[in-house]
Amino acid sequence: MMTPEELIRLAKEARSRAYMPYSGFSVGAALLCRNGKVYQGCNIENAAYGPSVCAERVAVFKAVYDGERAFEAIAVVGGRAGAAVTGPCPPCGVCRQVLREFCGPDLMIYLAGEDDRYEVHTLGELMPLSFSNANMDL
Ligand code: THU
Repeated sequence: MMTPEELIRLAKEARSRAYMPYSGFSVGAALLCRNGKVYQGCNIENAAYGPSVCAERVAVFKAVYDGERAFEAIAVVGGRAGAAVTGPCPPCGVCRQVLREFCGPDLMIYLAGEDDRYEVHTLGELMPLSFSNANMDL
């Protein structure tokens, strides 16, 4: 059983891989599959700015490429590069939509804060009235 604390530790480890020469803001994510596997991601920026990708999407895309589509939780850790985490780093709107493609409102979202503290959210809470493939069946 993967605890929120363990998933956050893996997100912190992923944060160390961030490539963020433009923003100086490093983010790590750890995505827990329902089968227990974990996929890590970091933000990867680009000189043209637009192609930059967030840590959460890197984790989701790695997992989906590997055939995983059932997710239980994601931990996200972000802050100024080289500095300790001082507050929660909530997923951006694009990443929420990408998560929504594969997850329902019950996806757990752990946002690391200062020291060993963390916030617990769900995708349903962070994304009310979301658009998904279910809306296209109407
Ligand atoms: N970023 C993420 O990787 N995840 C988030 O949840 C918020 C923002 C990245 C994008 C960019 O590389 C940097 O953080 C500053 O926005």
